[in-house]
Amino acid sequence: MAIIHGSLVPCLLVLATFVAQTHYTIANTTHPEVLSIFNRSSFPTEFVFGTASSSYQYEGAAKQDGRGPSIWDTFTHNSLDRISDRSNGDVAVDFYHRYKEDVQIMKDMNLDAFRFSISWSRLLPRLQPFVTLFHWDLPQALEDEYGGFLSPHIVDDFRDFAKVCYKEFGDRVKYWITINEPWTYSSGGYDQGTLAPGRCSKWVNAACQAGNSSTEPYLVSHHMLLSHAAAVKLYQQKYQGIQKGKIGITLISHWMVPYSKTKPNVEAAKEPLISCLDGE
Ligand SMILES: *[C@@H]1O[C@H](CO)[C@@H](O)[C@H](O)[C@H]1NC(C)=O
Ligand SMILES: *[C@@H]1O[C@H](CO)[C@@H](O)[C@H](O)[C@H]1NC(C)=O
Ligand SMILES: *[C@@H]1O[C@H](CO)[C@@H](O)[C@H](O)[C@H]1NC(C)=O
Repeated sequence: MAIIHGSLVPCLLVLATFVAQTHYTIANTTHPEVLSIFNRSSFPTEFVFGTASSSYQYEGAAKQDGRGPSIWDTFTHNSLDRISDRSNGDVAVDFYHRYKEDVQIMKDMNLDAFRFSISWSRLLPRLQPFVTLFHWDLPQALEDEYGGFLSPHIVDDFRDFAKVCYKEFGDRVKYWITINEPWTYSSGGYDQGTLAPGRCSKWVNAACQAGNSSTEPYLVSHHMLLSHAAAVKLYQQKYQGIQKGKIGITLISHWMVPYSKTKPNVEAAKEPLISCLDGE
């Protein structure tokens, strides 16, 4: 990597470059007269000889294996005028791939130690938040007040909730999911009674105290779609232009693998995927 104006730890830079690029001529000096007066025995025995490096300056593989960007990636790419040869650490001396060779060189040089840094953004890349607005935990107060998603009142309330989220978090959240799996919420909560709020017909599930499996799942699905539409419309009209995010919905589907490669089997495997997504 290039020498940086102003310059940050040039000695690390030199050493890092040295490890991968130069050969070990320093160990086999061409000036034996210097060696005889100034060599390793001139230092205390506990003195540690080694190379030193810094992750961004020598690793390379800047985008590999999930590494997230660090401020140095941004700086080298965006402030070209401040990097003398306009280079960056994208590849550097490629220690990420050539580490075995480089470590071997250090051993050949009879070094005791190797100083390196752990790339924080490689170890813990900053994750991109994908935020779901509604993943089934409806406030009990709205369930009590008007039956939650059984009622069209939910549409305005859901839009208001979405608005608060866009306003408060939209500067950082660029991927919004309005509702998680509306099919699962309506069938589990209103047809089978196996998910909250646990409503269904007795003939479907004797444990249900109230509900109607013939009608309620459809009402709930309808209001979920309207709520989704209202939240998307608000985002598109008021926030997307400034916040530059994307918005969508999560739909459940099954994934079938054909029993064999014959055409009927391949076609049959596609069917559940299509019908499941359509049904939602
Ligand atoms: C440098 O010296 C070491 C130790 O004498 C030796 O093993 C090595 O082969 C030499 N390397 C070169 C490049 O001459
Ligand atoms: C290292 O330096 C010492 C003097 O500081 C000298 O006595 C010794 O011979 C030198 N060793 C070599 C291998 O040149
Ligand atoms: C469910 O709703 C349908 C349509 O309104 C009605 O015909 C049916 O009797 C209801 N079932 C129960 C168990 O209330």
